[in-house]
Amino acid sequence: MRVLVTGGAGYVGSHAAKLLAETGHDVLIVDNLSEGHRPAVSKLPFVSASLLEPERLIGAMQDHNTEAVMHFAAFAYVGVSVKDPAVYYHNNIVGSLTLLAAMRAVGVDRIVFSSSCATYGNPQRIPLTEDHPQNPISPYGYTKLVIERALADYSHAYGIGYAALRYFNASGAAADGTLGEDHDPETHLIPLILQVALGQREYVEVFGTDYPTPDGTCIRDYIHVDDLATAHVAALEKLQPGMQLKLNLGTGHGASVQEVIDLCREVTGRPINVHTVGRREGDPPQLVADASAAKFANAASEARLALGEIQMKSGERAAGRALLKSLEKDSSNAGFLVVAHKAAAALRFAPSRQ
Ligand code: UFG
Repeated sequence: MRVLVTGGAGYVGSHAAKLLAETGHDVLIVDNLSEGHRPAVSKLPFVSASLLEPERLIGAMQDHNTEAVMHFAAFAYVGVSVKDPAVYYHNNIVGSLTLLAAMRAVGVDRIVFSSSCATYGNPQRIPLTEDHPQNPISPYGYTKLVIERALADYSHAYGIGYAALRYFNASGAAADGTLGEDHDPETHLIPLILQVALGQREYVEVFGTDYPTPDGTCIRDYIHVDDLATAHVAALEKLQPGMQLKLNLGTGHGASVQEVIDLCREVTGRPINVHTVGRREGDPPQLVADASAAKFANAASEARLALGEIQMKSGERAAGRALLKSLEKDSSNAGFLVVAHKAAAALRFAPSRQ
């Protein structure tokens, strides 16, 4: 399929674009590089454009004979969205509506949209099923919910097919060390822990140990970015005009901040200094997906998981430690990404707290 990928130079977008290309799809990346990285998609056709440039979006879709869109481009820092909501409303809502208008102008009738578990707000029950009420507690979550609603209305009125994929915590890096998480500033737990392991940071802060969870730290559902990519391609291939898919993308297993730190200690063989600080505003104690609805998309991930389990048992953690050791001499980015992959992969096999 001929797919235009907005935000394809970003974290999840670049992993999905890589898999799309590897599975025979014809990909065009559209990204303004405000957050993304051109080298992440250096082998793919690329148009530098913002979602707020309708003529350029229309031109790109026409030139590429686009059949479907994967829409990743958005700002995604929950905390920043509280402090500066105008930027989030403008970029995430106006930008997405401009994209939808461009699709209608050209006759593109399928879209896979990056939504978020942040649309649910504070959970009334765990695990979160897709029919859980959506009452976001951050401007970021609200912008995602607005676009979900627009997609439902556009689908009803204009017949577009859409998949709203509600990510839980994206984590990890491509197993081959070519792609990974690279935010500036970095705020996410796993890369911060690994920076401590590498000696690039003195300690990692734990935001609160007084939550109503077994060890007092927040529980999240960390899904590997490769599994997110698999789910996107599966959703795209399933999508038909007029179809409406709303799916959680999580593993169904929760891990606490403390458990993630312990696992990273195990994977890297490093002590990892920790400072406990107060709670971070806007963090729900627990976010865990009921992931059963997206099972169709998970078949390939599960096959990879089974393979991963065998690899783990046969010494992946030792390999992670060896890699980290060599990284100290040659601090190559690829090595860091492979460790990040291994750390996130280890989470797949962690005992569930649920
Ligand atoms: N945490 C720490 N110390 C840190 C960073 C994070 O203790 O230095 C904790 C957080 O409090 C949270 C957990 O680690 O409990 C994970 O935090 P992240 O910042 O890695 O991820 P979030 O859960 O805050 O956010 C992610 C995405 C959002 C998405 C959200 C949905 O970044 O885009 O998941 O839960 F909306």
